[in-house]
Amino acid sequence: MVDKSGDRVRQMFAEIAPRYDLMNHVLSLNVDRHWRSKALRFLKLHPGEPVLDTCTGTGDLALSIAKQLGKETRVIGSDFCPEMLEIARDKRKRKLPSYQQVDFVEADTQKLPFADDTFQAVTVAFGLRNVAVTEVGLSEMTRVCKPGGQVAVLEFSKPTAFGLRHVYNAYFQHILPRVGQRLAKNDQSAYQYLPESVQAFPSGEALAVLMRQAGLKNIQMVAMTFGVVTLYVGTK
Ligand SMILES: C[S@@+](CC[C@H](N)C(=O)[O-])C[C@H]1O[C@@H](n2cnc3c(N)ncnc32)[C@H](O)[C@@H]1O
Repeated sequence: MVDKSGDRVRQMFAEIAPRYDLMNHVLSLNVDRHWRSKALRFLKLHPGEPVLDTCTGTGDLALSIAKQLGKETRVIGSDFCPEMLEIARDKRKRKLPSYQQVDFVEADTQKLPFADDTFQAVTVAFGLRNVAVTEVGLSEMTRVCKPGGQVAVLEFSKPTAFGLRHVYNAYFQHILPRVGQRLAKNDQSAYQYLPESVQAFPSGEALAVLMRQAGLKNIQMVAMTFGVVTLYVGTK
């Protein structure tokens, strides 16, 4: 059983925060940027209406959304790890200095400090898997989304093609933890945790079921990179 208690997960991300972006790009062979931008292209977002990116980490998806919608649109990135948020805020100042409507706030995705029906879209990229109780995270994301709005989950999934599954498992379970540990220097558990948490997390129809239970409908699933990652989008 993977330990996803809030303290453990927060501590783990606090430790890797300074190297998180570098590790992401190296370990995914830079494909992580492509996954987020493809997800963004798929969503139908309207300038002027607020968007929330939960488990925003170092803020890449929130900042891409803001850039697409323009500086008048309110975009909030929330996360419960202050060290990750600090990097997101610095990045915002460096990359989008005039975007004052972008905010990074400390919040647990299981208890979002926003009113019901606030955002045109609520997103989470590579974050829901880490939330202690998936159903509670999804239900909070749905609560703060406007009726008719979109809830989007971008997450690792398990490739089904036989040959690919073997290559993927070898990379994810043996190579990635070793390379991760070396690059992160002092932290082994984060890169052991990654394959374990992906293995234990529902993917495909199993996650779609949880999204429906949270009150979403018309769940669309878009497989990326042969199903290594899937984008799930539901409508409230
Ligand atoms: C793998 S990172 C993903 C960051 C970013 N979304 C991305 O695409 O790179 C997962 C993030 O989820 C955050 N997180 C995990 N559980 C959380 C929770 N219950 N509430 C808020 N943030 C959480 C962690 O602090 C971490 O920043």
